[in-house]
Amino acid sequence: MSSLLVDNIGELVTNSADSGDLLGLRRHAALLVEEGRVVWVGPARYAPAADRRIDAEGAAVLPGFVDSHAHLVFAGDRAAEFAARMAGEPYTGGGIRTTVGATRAASDGELRATVGRLRGEALRQGTTTMEIKSGYGLTVADEARSLRIAAEFSGDTTFLGAHVVPAEYADRPDDYVGLVCGPMLAAAAPHARWIDVFCERGAFDADHARAILACGQALGLGVRVHANQLGPGPGVRLGVELGAASVDHCTHLDDADVDALAGSETVATLLPGAEFSTRSPYPDARRLLDAGVTVALATDCNPGSSYTSSMPFCVALAVREMRMTPAEAVWAATAGGARALRRDDVGVLRPGARADLVILDAPSHLHLAYRPGVPLIRQVLHNGVPQCRM
Ligand code: NIG
Ligand code: FE
Repeated sequence: MSSLLVDNIGELVTNSADSGDLLGLRRHAALLVEEGRVVWVGPARYAPAADRRIDAEGAAVLPGFVDSHAHLVFAGDRAAEFAARMAGEPYTGGGIRTTVGATRAASDGELRATVGRLRGEALRQGTTTMEIKSGYGLTVADEARSLRIAAEFSGDTTFLGAHVVPAEYADRPDDYVGLVCGPMLAAAAPHARWIDVFCERGAFDADHARAILACGQALGLGVRVHANQLGPGPGVRLGVELGAASVDHCTHLDDADVDALAGSETVATLLPGAEFSTRSPYPDARRLLDAGVTVALATDCNPGSSYTSSMPFCVALAVREMRMTPAEAVWAATAGGARALRRDDVGVLRPGARADLVILDAPSHLHLAYRPGVPLIRQVLHNGVPQCRM
């Protein structure tokens, strides 16, 4: 059994609750990896012998980012829609149907290449766990193949057949809900861990969303919801009612939404890349944190509302625009994402956890927000395997 020591770590973010501060910081630390897992964490001066050694040269090391919300299975892009928005057009979600058309017309190989490209892009920016949704196929065959391809890249795949009502069902949304709950879910479920619904005016209302999510739950899928993105609505409370692992976006919340979240196990996943790219007001992260809600950060990577795969960018936005502290943002992008996926093997660096970690080109996690847009990811270990030096 070969061992790998990551030595001479100036600042180690463990996210381990036992050391008092939010990030479980340790100085002058080292970490031993065997068979893809962390087996020892401690002071560098007590580091055990190992077969191989990586010298972190005094830099900061943190758990790999856990991006718990991404839509990677699609074809084409919507750069022209983005340009129109920057010239004053509002974002409505109507462009989803454009991407549905392009995705249906694409070959499996084209879709696989796009997912691979974006997954690689994210990995180079420190993302070691990435949820991947379907939702641009919206036929039985296209949703099933989207999830089959997604499952080649992630264990956290999400069936989002209820993204919008596709054009061919525009006059009969009830029939589309029947299709999603019946044959589409049956074809998707073997390749999915989660089910998600875009619960929003213009997409799915509370009754339709509840019916679809309940069908998914009955087949053993965990629940997540796109909720309260474009306006106030029932999505957050519905998610809490159904025991969702996460409700995502949370841009327009009232007091009852915040109270419901605060009294639940449901994570509020904030997606500041979407507000950046749609030039919208950011969610009120402070209100959620101060109420005791567990907050995660994710990219929402998709060709319409947030075409970024960069978790460091989201951390910087969360600090600058949403008044999260750097420590809260780094926690939300690592341990918070893990909570949103109900995973206890990622987002932390302690014995038993997956050896998924990032070595920064910086002495402290603070630099992720302090030096926005700078490629600070020096090296990534995924399942204990060093990826190419970045
Ligand atoms: O999470 N809100 C719904 N779905 C995506 C946007 C999809 C698109 O515009 O293509 C989101 O922002
Ligand atoms: Fe999304």
